[in-house]
Amino acid sequence: MTQIHKRLAGLEDIAEIAAEIAASLAPGDVVALSGELGSGKTTFARALVRALHGRDDVSSPTFTFRHTYAGSPPVEHIDLYRLDDPAEARELGLEEALENGAIVLVEWPERWPAFVPERHLAVHFEGAGDAPREIEVRRMGASRAAR
Ligand SMILES: Nc1ncnc2c1ncn2[C@@H]1O[C@H](COP(=O)(O)OP(=O)(O)OP(=O)(O)O)[C@@H](O)[C@H]1O
Ligand SMILES: [Mg+2]
Repeated sequence: MTQIHKRLAGLEDIAEIAAEIAASLAPGDVVALSGELGSGKTTFARALVRALHGRDDVSSPTFTFRHTYAGSPPVEHIDLYRLDDPAEARELGLEEALENGAIVLVEWPERWPAFVPERHLAVHFEGAGDAPREIEVRRMGASRAAR
């Protein structure tokens, strides 16, 4: 089921949609962020952290695979772009991020599809640079009520 499919006029729209989605998330939820290079995945992840933690001072840490934003609940931000091999991810202990009662945001989920649980929120971005941008949000897998 497509929950949201919108044209993004600019960065302001991101904050609004992030707030809407943040309100529907619970600890343990996983959000898969897909879309081409530069389509806005990290920008959206930071907007979600802002909305979830109710702060405006979310920094932009450079991290390779994982950054934990402490808060209630914590947010785990995982970026699988540079992942060559799931074995590497296991060595790095990335799966721990799923066991912290955190909300887990995953960029480039297609690099390691098995990392993403069946039940997750799929957020897809279209467009980069000056191209028109769109966001599409779908809830995947069993609904919470059906668990
Ligand atoms: N809705 C938007 N409107 C206009 N510019 C945007 C929007 N979303 C993101 N941008 C800009 O696009 C650029 C790339 O954004 P971002 O780093 O979030 O993309 P990304 O999908 O995470 O890229 P990567 O694939 O490299 O991880 C940034 O300069 C950001 O400010
Ligand atoms: Mg990114």
